[in-house]
Amino acid sequence: MKFITVDTYKEMSRKAANLIAAQMTVKPTSVLGLATGSTPIGIYEELVERCKNGDIDFSAIRSINLDEYVGLDGESDQSYRYFMNYHLFSKVNINIADTYVPNGKAADIEAECKAYDARIEEFGGIDLQLLGIGLDGHIGFNEPDTCFTGETHLVDLHPSTIEANARFFASKDEVPTKAVTMGMRGIMQAKKVLLVANGPKKKEILEKAFFGPITPEVPASILQLHPDLTVIFSQYE
Ligand code: GLP
Repeated sequence: MKFITVDTYKEMSRKAANLIAAQMTVKPTSVLGLATGSTPIGIYEELVERCKNGDIDFSAIRSINLDEYVGLDGESDQSYRYFMNYHLFSKVNINIADTYVPNGKAADIEAECKAYDARIEEFGGIDLQLLGIGLDGHIGFNEPDTCFTGETHLVDLHPSTIEANARFFASKDEVPTKAVTMGMRGIMQAKKVLLVANGPKKKEILEKAFFGPITPEVPASILQLHPDLTVIFSQYE
């Protein structure tokens, strides 16, 4: 594991964007696993700028996102599909048909989950997976549990996650209680994993996840077993 500590959010965003840009340069047909949350927004801004400058090219990139709230469609401005369109896809030359986010409105969620895993397999796995980390150690929406789940699956969001994500909604009551998330297999099979975390509030969970025991109670701790993991932590917000 490479654990890189920087001072500022800007530095974290630039270093992470450098790694993604390098991946896109050496393999212009990369499959990028993408993440939402407030932490990656600065990375997406960097990537948009680099694409505008002609430094990187999204035309042959395929992207596959980690998760989506159940019950929200892509038009809803709280959905992760909307987030991705807004922060990245609408601003770079990616083919929107090559971008995948789970469908939170699928009539058959189980079938949606199976199809999602089949797609990852068809892609030959993810080349670089970008991750944030929740305050309870979740990655994607893999919440603390008694076991790790391999497949893409439906989850009940933890009260603490609902609380943490309420800041994006008009009120806590509007936060969906369920989500679809890529499971640990999709994440762990990624050739490279890049996890970003911002600010002192994430310090404690990073210590548990990367310097404590590997346990499904801290889902991100499984990443200690990944052969190519980079963590970039900005210690001041
Ligand atoms: C959400 C997402 C996660 C993300 C987490 C942290 O719950 N499902 O993928 O890592 O939030 O969010 P933030 O970056 O805003 O702290």
